[in-house]
Amino acid sequence: MVAIRLLVETADTAIGKLRILLTGGTGFIGQHVQKYLLSAGHDVKVFVRQKPSRQLGLMLGCVPVFGDLNDQDSVREAVTDCDLIVYCAGTVKGAEFKDFTEANISGVKRFASALLLVGSINARFLLISSLAASRPYISDYAQSKYLGEQALKGIEGLRWSILRPPAVYGLGDTEMLKIFRLIRIGIAPLIGPSNQMLSFLHVEDLARSIICTIDASDEMDRCCVDLHDGQLGGYSWSDIIKAVRGNSIALRLPIPRPVANILAALNRKTAERLRYSPMLTEGKVRELSQQEWICDNSRITEKTGWTPRIDLIEGVGQLV
Ligand SMILES: NC(=O)c1ccc[n+]([C@@H]2O[C@H](COP(=O)([O-])OP(=O)(O)OC[C@H]3O[C@@H](n4cnc5c(N)ncnc54)[C@H](OP(=O)(O)O)[C@@H]3O)[C@@H](O)[C@H]2O)c1
Repeated sequence: MVAIRLLVETADTAIGKLRILLTGGTGFIGQHVQKYLLSAGHDVKVFVRQKPSRQLGLMLGCVPVFGDLNDQDSVREAVTDCDLIVYCAGTVKGAEFKDFTEANISGVKRFASALLLVGSINARFLLISSLAASRPYISDYAQSKYLGEQALKGIEGLRWSILRPPAVYGLGDTEMLKIFRLIRIGIAPLIGPSNQMLSFLHVEDLARSIICTIDASDEMDRCCVDLHDGQLGGYSWSDIIKAVRGNSIALRLPIPRPVANILAALNRKTAERLRYSPMLTEGKVRELSQQEWICDNSRITEKTGWTPRIDLIEGVGQLV
């Protein structure tokens, strides 16, 4: 059963109507991207895994194309005559490296190769990567995102752009919301150093940056850019607590790294037994323990004119 939601926002596009294939359209970020692509006037097909009586969450105007990232034939068929792939599919949780490879590496390679063969002339590939790809040695997830980028760059003759967002939050997200909710009740769990600095991006700004990247296709050709919400140098934990609780204080609960690793190991074992994909793993602990995850907007702004509109205070205010 396809759930249909009405389009509520409009946006402008500087270029003509494109035939776009969106992967990962059923996910947190992909849902917002659907809305922006449609609003920009493009023809949007969404590549989805078929599951009985599943709520796909497709918007009115998006056409589902059923297939599997692993299935060469369905990928090829979906990509035929396509002008642009927006690759938003990805695996963000997993117990080991192999859990991340299919969606983050092999799928990128399969879609990009097919696009070159059967896509329209001058077809392009826009990959939603991650700031984590800048530190591939940190975790299985980070490595898989890096290798996904490399796979795309390795397709000779293809036009591509890569966006590397930091932590993304907004309506429909469940991961960041857990942290914001804890802070809301007055507890701020800190796995990283107390003076850690973090960049964030609201999902609506990310979706809008995709439209700007599409519109600036020549300037963004073969470009890999970072983007954040406009807070230069990122947010401290005091800033994050302030965004959630205003002037009320929160109890900072430092979780020593060995304790975090024990929790991660327990979570991994439980996940194996109960068959779910674990978010907290030793790799995630290493990611969370970094001194900073900050980045720079200047290249994307220079090339596309995109600037962020929603800072953490406004974005979190809408959520909690
Ligand atoms: N969320 C963040 O903070 C963040 C930050 C930086 C970068 N990113 C990147 O943004 C992308 C989207 O993230 P998200 O937060 O929206 O994740 P998400 O909510 O988990 O959505 C993932 C999407 O990918 C699809 N997918 C995963 N494995 C697939 C497979 N094997 N075959 C077909 N489809 C598959 C899922 O389809 P199903 O619905 O069928 O499972 C879903 O549509 C990821 O590449 C992630 O690395 C996210």
